[in-house]
Amino acid sequence: MKVEKYKFSYTVYQSDKEMNDGDASLLQQARKVTKKAYAPYSRFNVACAARLENGRTVIGTNQENASYPVGICAERALLATVGTQYADEPIETLAVTYHSLDGESKHPISPCGMCRQALTEYEKRSGKPIRLILSGMEGQVYVINTAKDLLPLAFSDEDLA
Ligand code: THU
Repeated sequence: MKVEKYKFSYTVYQSDKEMNDGDASLLQQARKVTKKAYAPYSRFNVACAARLENGRTVIGTNQENASYPVGICAERALLATVGTQYADEPIETLAVTYHSLDGESKHPISPCGMCRQALTEYEKRSGKPIRLILSGMEGQVYVINTAKDLLPLAFSDEDLA
């Protein structure tokens, strides 16, 4: 028997001011878009902005429902749009942020397990890694090279074969 180890590296910026202009502006766009979230139940507005390889920017927000499980996260709302309008177009970078209406929004959040699964499949489908920028409305920013890093031993189409 042997024990396997899983390690990954990510970059931590103290604020968006340390980032390059392109990344900082994508994050600012996502922060602006938190206003478009529909989250009356959690009061936790999540938004994301993706820069596609073709230069377009696509946004997504969480959309909740009185029947709670019907709600969808911002990341998967965005992937549904990209998959529909720009199918298989690689997503270069995806900025994810949130505005908690009842609390602070100063620490990065990272995608939930279901979104990690969806992001990983989109990477595979488009053949390119999705770089993630994770933050709140202010404070530290994490940059992760590929969504796959967040889902070790992921289940995929290969397991269905
Ligand atoms: N949420 C997202 O949209 N993305 C995440 O990465 C984490 C959670 C949403 C789901 C729900 O509408 C609210 O945040 C609180 O969980």
